[in-house]
Amino acid sequence: MAIFYYEDKRIFKLDTSDSSYVIQVDKDGFLLHLYYGAKIPDVNLPKFANRCRYASFSATTPEADSEYFTGFTPDTWPFEIGCNGCADMRKASLQIRNADGNAATDVRYVSHKIYAGKPGIPGMPALFANEDGDCATLEIVTLDKVTGAEVTLVYTVFEKLSAMTRGLIVKNTSDKPFDLERVLSFCMDMNSDAYDLISLYGRHMREREFARRPLAHGTQGVYSRRGSSSHSQNPFIALISKGGNEEYGEAFGFNLVYSGNFSAIVDVDYNNSSRVMMGINPDDFCWTLGAGETFYTPEAVLVYSANGLGDMSRTFHRLYNRHLVRGEWAHKKRPLLVNNWEGTGMDFDDEKLYAIAEWAKETGLEMFVMDDGWFGKRDDDTNSLGDWVVNEKKLKGGIGALISRVKALGLKFGIWYEPEMISPDSDIYRAHPDWCIHVPGRDRSLGRHQCVMDMTRADVRDYLFNIMSEVLAHNDIDYLKWDFNRNISEAGSALLPPERQKEFYHRYVLGTYELLDRITKAYPHLLLEGCSGGGGRFDPGMLYYTPQIWCSDNTDALSRLDIQFGTSLCYPASTQGAHVSASPRTGYETKRNVAMWGTFGYELDPAKISEEARAEIKAQIADYHKYYDTIHYGDLYRLICPWDDPYKAAWEFVNEEKTQALFTMATKLYTERRNLFIRLKGLDPEKQYRLTKTNEVFSGALLMNAGLSLWDYPIGDGESFMLCFEAV
Ligand code: DGJ
Repeated sequence: MAIFYYEDKRIFKLDTSDSSYVIQVDKDGFLLHLYYGAKIPDVNLPKFANRCRYASFSATTPEADSEYFTGFTPDTWPFEIGCNGCADMRKASLQIRNADGNAATDVRYVSHKIYAGKPGIPGMPALFANEDGDCATLEIVTLDKVTGAEVTLVYTVFEKLSAMTRGLIVKNTSDKPFDLERVLSFCMDMNSDAYDLISLYGRHMREREFARRPLAHGTQGVYSRRGSSSHSQNPFIALISKGGNEEYGEAFGFNLVYSGNFSAIVDVDYNNSSRVMMGINPDDFCWTLGAGETFYTPEAVLVYSANGLGDMSRTFHRLYNRHLVRGEWAHKKRPLLVNNWEGTGMDFDDEKLYAIAEWAKETGLEMFVMDDGWFGKRDDDTNSLGDWVVNEKKLKGGIGALISRVKALGLKFGIWYEPEMISPDSDIYRAHPDWCIHVPGRDRSLGRHQCVMDMTRADVRDYLFNIMSEVLAHNDIDYLKWDFNRNISEAGSALLPPERQKEFYHRYVLGTYELLDRITKAYPHLLLEGCSGGGGRFDPGMLYYTPQIWCSDNTDALSRLDIQFGTSLCYPASTQGAHVSASPRTGYETKRNVAMWGTFGYELDPAKISEEARAEIKAQIADYHKYYDTIHYGDLYRLICPWDDPYKAAWEFVNEEKTQALFTMATKLYTERRNLFIRLKGLDPEKQYRLTKTNEVFSGALLMNAGLSLWDYPIGDGESFMLCFEAV
């Protein structure tokens, strides 16, 4: 077991493969955060634990007020929970407004237990253990004796990876309700502010751009208030030591397993300590917990690396491939698909779709996916969402007829849905105008001409499950793309009483998870691909249900470089939907090379591209199969990052056995040729590798230390090349 309790010092040490996390219960029952960083063998930290016991103006605990140096002010001490309103003046991670109306909160240690394995979270996504002994869990029970809030801190360590999770369970043990106003999943006070904060910001067509800034005194961080995790900020932040980069420096990565409004905060105080917190965004949130009721927060994932961002990312990738992505498709080879969206939009009929499927078969693709426009009277985006009944004017003979023809070609069949949306111009809206999110007396704002289904309602979820089942249960469908194309506004539900409306956003997420859970359980063979106007809901919560997520509606290979590099900070290639399209800026070689960094596929109408392009595509397919495992489950090395070099980008995948490495470089902007040496990473120095293009053989040691001279490879605007090395 990797969790130790030292009774004499009341210290817990949580070890992973490369990190230790140390917590102490002090004499008054406060939970102190002592350490998170590289693995340490001992817990002889008494000096380390000691803090300044007094600070002018900061409140002390009453019993300590007279003792100038031996007193105790919570304001200067490092905690595992930042309680509101009782002498710790920093931003709080837990704020409970009790029946008396005040929000003073103070939880103290009661008991703990340590056990093998990892618990799930009712109704919510969570990482899981695979085999005996790969996870150990510590639960520390604390109590606020005034409110009766029993708060359990749940920590799980992944023993073979430098990763852990952390979340809270709050139980109301009193006989009166109280309000959870802030209930963040984790809080950690670090001893220093000498870090840079990394986050992933974006917008539609430009998701997960890399941002880096030094920490400064005060509050900094990222958040979503859009109802989903959003394009604007990903629920991911990292802290890296100053000067740190891909290979050097301490990197701490934090990711929230949640798909709704979140907040990730770093609060640097007057002691130059940094409080890191992450969880459900307290803005527009409050949860009333009745007597005896329990509330579960989403869990946060913590990854530590002593060797920079690259190593941190590889840990996230392994962790998510092994402990988050589930179901039949988790490790089964994903079909190579063609999707008709960029090729036809909604302007299609069964013959047009079948022609694409025929081309797909001839070309060597494995699945045809029918995107938006197959239901209701949908020829454009102004109508029909919610009317999930096939449009027989477009698909003559019904959906079954098209599926049979596609299947007869030997292809799999996929379909598009946007279950959480409703068009005002739809039969279902006319029948149930209160089924969409709205508040009395205000206009219902539209986004892409649509409203959002009230997923907090069980009747709405039942309707969606049943109407989707009309299609899914009666047809041989292999894949479902689950889209979500607007932010939520005028957040309210016709069924919630006024005092519960503030729970709306979280209830929305729980409702969506419930429907996802029902669909995945009823149709376990379905491969789900998440989507939200591209990658607007690319988060670990969705990955628990949808093993892959469409990364961006921007399929231009050069723009995709920034998007895919950013996404790779914490999400593995196996989850990243990436397609070759007819976008004009680069040739098919570069489109293929970039799209291979993900769940490869095509998104075009073959009737609209040239004969040469079709021939080139046919030749591309074989490589995808050859490198599938290396890309999906191997180690990624970001060799030249777009955030460091505006002209080019280079990356490498190495398989687990270190017998295959795939190096790719793409040029965004031509500059005159100069010397260019690239040192490969992650090879076995003892092995000999054959460069398959030339049959030259080099040692792993040479490739990693001397590197390759690449000055004479293609470097024109939008050009790229891929080199494969096989161990001999
Ligand atoms: C947004 C998605 O990102 C696209 O791929 C496509 O499915 C459209 N929605 C369809 O409306």
